[in-house]
Amino acid sequence: MHLGVNIDHIATLRQARLTTYPDPIAAARLCIEAGADGITAHLREDRRHIQDADMEILAAMARQGELHLNMEMAATDEMVSIATRLRPQACCLVPEKREELTTEGGLDVAGHQARMASVVDRLASAGCRVSMFIDPDESQVRASAGIGAPVIELHTGHFANMEGAERERELLAIRKAAELAAELGLVVHAGHGLTLDNTPAMVAIEEIDGLNIGHAIIADAVFKGLKQAVSDFKAVMAR
Ligand code: PXP
Repeated sequence: MHLGVNIDHIATLRQARLTTYPDPIAAARLCIEAGADGITAHLREDRRHIQDADMEILAAMARQGELHLNMEMAATDEMVSIATRLRPQACCLVPEKREELTTEGGLDVAGHQARMASVVDRLASAGCRVSMFIDPDESQVRASAGIGAPVIELHTGHFANMEGAERERELLAIRKAAELAAELGLVVHAGHGLTLDNTPAMVAIEEIDGLNIGHAIIADAVFKGLKQAVSDFKAVMAR
């Protein structure tokens, strides 16, 4: 199973102070060294974390075979024009709202088939493997297959926030959507809100071929690295 590490939050931290660090490019290299199969980065319309210059460097690294890049993007003309110029190996189309904290739900592919088909075509012509980020819903899976997208990414954010019977129902919906997608010949990814605790439930679904995980990895990294960071400061302050 393929792990794509989403490095947006390294850039979130950098943009909070408008410094040059922490550098998402250095983070991408570290993730690959640690065994990540790819890097995911979302160039948002409001540029709240990843900047154009970051995506340019990541795409150059991808072209040189240093990493597999999955560019998350809204299906807008601006983003399509950037992606067709940068030609990352993969593009994941996501809905985007300026006021949201993070991607809050899947794309409505079924409701915008002509527009989505045209975006998928343009990206595919530039050599990008396009993935549709959708809720685990039969009509969205069928619509994604219908417009010729080769990959779907199932939105696991609701599952991650649920408990008890509701969580079981959502897990079943994810499983059924993954099975249908595989039957229709789609490659299935999943992501959003995945943690060390809930990832095993996704791993257990045979049809899921890859996961994209960001927030929990960056959050865990803080605690796994905080002791070292403090002791490094104590060391340079030692008289
Ligand atoms: N997949 C998609 C399409 C996303 O938009 C995001 C968040 O940027 C992720 C995966 C990763 O989600 P998280 O940061 O919650 O792990």
